[in-house]
Amino acid sequence: MSILSKSTKTIKLNSGYSIPVIGLGTWQATEKGAAANAVKVALQNGYRHIDTAAIYGNEEEVGQGIKESGIPRSEIFVTTKLWNKDQRTAEDALTTSLKKLGLDYVDLYLIHWPIPLKQDGSVDTEWDVNSTYKSLQKLVAAGKTKSIGVSNFNKQQLERLLADPEVTITPAVNQIEGHPLLPQPELFDYLTKNGIHAEYYSPLGSTGAPLFKYELVTSLAKKYNAEPAQILISWAVQKGAIVLPKSVTSSRVIDNLSTLTLSDEDFKALSTLVDNEGVVRNVNPNWGGPVFP
Ligand SMILES: NC(=O)c1ccc[n+]([C@@H]2O[C@H](COP(=O)([O-])OP(=O)(O)OC[C@H]3O[C@@H](n4cnc5c(N)ncnc54)[C@H](OP(=O)(O)O)[C@@H]3O)[C@@H](O)[C@H]2O)c1
Repeated sequence: MSILSKSTKTIKLNSGYSIPVIGLGTWQATEKGAAANAVKVALQNGYRHIDTAAIYGNEEEVGQGIKESGIPRSEIFVTTKLWNKDQRTAEDALTTSLKKLGLDYVDLYLIHWPIPLKQDGSVDTEWDVNSTYKSLQKLVAAGKTKSIGVSNFNKQQLERLLADPEVTITPAVNQIEGHPLLPQPELFDYLTKNGIHAEYYSPLGSTGAPLFKYELVTSLAKKYNAEPAQILISWAVQKGAIVLPKSVTSSRVIDNLSTLTLSDEDFKALSTLVDNEGVVRNVNPNWGGPVFP
């Protein structure tokens, strides 16, 4: 008997809206038809949460997949993100995203990175990311997004944001890289204390799922008669995070929604893998210097 079961778990955000804990990631789903198919397969097999971004270049296909799935819009949680070069013009950027998605609103709109960029790709040092966040607050009032949040913010950037007297809406989430080799305990605790949910991206280690190379991950997969991906996704859910596995392979998309409960001992073993292997960060861009020094 399998102990895996399709996740239907949701979490309540500080905005009052519920979010399914597992969402389909769509970064690098750019081959023609790939994102539309993945989204359609996901929704028809029980997912109710899709994560995209303007910079992924696939919002039209995500919208197409949503339409083709036949699942009512009201049942689906859709996130998109404001790209760095559009931080001065967030309202226009969201209008463009909504048009591409074929939607009237998104459920969650995120500042993709805390680094405003000029059109030439250099850092826009004269623009404050807090001002971007304040323009997102207006988009909630305008009904274009139900919730707002941030991504790739560190603790200092969040402290500065929350200390701003004009910031009246606490971010619903901070979307960050998260997996057993990048648990970010201090940031995670800070988020929990402030009612901000952690959304873990790259839960398999990103492109090519490099976390499968660790013996602990494969041995737990064998022990639980599960896929390595399911072990890693289950770990993130058990930790209390929202988790965003990406796949454009239909069978993997379906597999990734099924989770299990790891024993306390196995959960602890995965949680302490980092002590032996060291921290591994896989998504680490460089704009005017490394974003994560
Ligand atoms: N906010 C941000 O800055 C940010 C940054 C990175 C990611 N994200 C979000 O988080 C999502 C997930 O992160 P990610 O795309 O970096 O990486 P990921 O989900 O950790 O891993 C994706 C890789 O794992 C493979 N894979 C997925 N399921 C598998 C399975 N069951 N068995 C074997 N291989 C499997 C995928 O292959 P195939 O697709 O070929 O099947 C792909 O190569 C993104 O798509 C995006 O939505 C956000």
